[in-house]
Amino acid sequence: MSNKYKEAFEKTRIAGSIAAAALNEVSKIAKPGVKTNEIDNLCYEFLNDHGAYSAPLFYRGFPKSCCTSTNHVVCHGIPSEKVLKDGDILNVDVTALKNGWHGDTSKTFEIGEVSVKAKKLVQTTYNAMMQAIKIIKEDIHLGDIGSVIQKHVEAEGFSVVQDFCGHGIGQQFHKEPNVLHYGKKGTGEKIKAGMIFTIEPMINLGNYETKTLNDGWTAVTKDKSLSAQFEHTIGVKKDGCEIFTLSKN
Ligand code: MF3
Ligand code: CO
Ligand code: CO
Repeated sequence: MSNKYKEAFEKTRIAGSIAAAALNEVSKIAKPGVKTNEIDNLCYEFLNDHGAYSAPLFYRGFPKSCCTSTNHVVCHGIPSEKVLKDGDILNVDVTALKNGWHGDTSKTFEIGEVSVKAKKLVQTTYNAMMQAIKIIKEDIHLGDIGSVIQKHVEAEGFSVVQDFCGHGIGQQFHKEPNVLHYGKKGTGEKIKAGMIFTIEPMINLGNYETKTLNDGWTAVTKDKSLSAQFEHTIGVKKDGCEIFTLSKN
């Protein structure tokens, strides 16, 4: 791999590990009775303490340091005085900006005891992301990624959100290519060693359609069914990929 790619991987590895570590701290407080603003504060402080910025904060006017998306919220939920309750599912999405490079990751947490259905949705979403990561190496098509996710999810009777996608990332938060979470094997651009992008499937219990609330950010399922998401930032290699946002514990 050329020196240019090496630098991108090294810098993204650092930003990614900070974002992952922030999520790990979040996992310790994501409990019934906690306000999503408290999670936001933790993210703000954690990133600050690690010499990083929150990329979402003030990004296109976004007011907070992470996204907190509960239950039927698909993504881009805004932290607030909302109190988490037993049985909720909560996605927290953190993007660290460190030394000019981004690391973007999210997880869906189970708050207290959740329903069997919710558990299955969360588990299926995670597995779909990991199955896609497993096939990544130089010269596969972008459509192969979407195809793996879509097949895995639809086999369980769930649906893939189409209104949001993964994205190239680096010194820019969002850049080309768009990484769709549905699609057909063998279609789309071939990926190359050195590319860095996110995989972040949003999976709904019901219909795939979403709408955005009047705050201009919060995306929800149209049918109000539950939605889950996981996200990793990865770097493509000749024979596989590196996950930059794995947490150490
Ligand atoms: N982290 C989100 C993503 O995965 C983007 C959040 S942008 C924000 O791409 F402004 F809503 F925070
Ligand atoms: Co992302
Ligand atoms: Co994200």
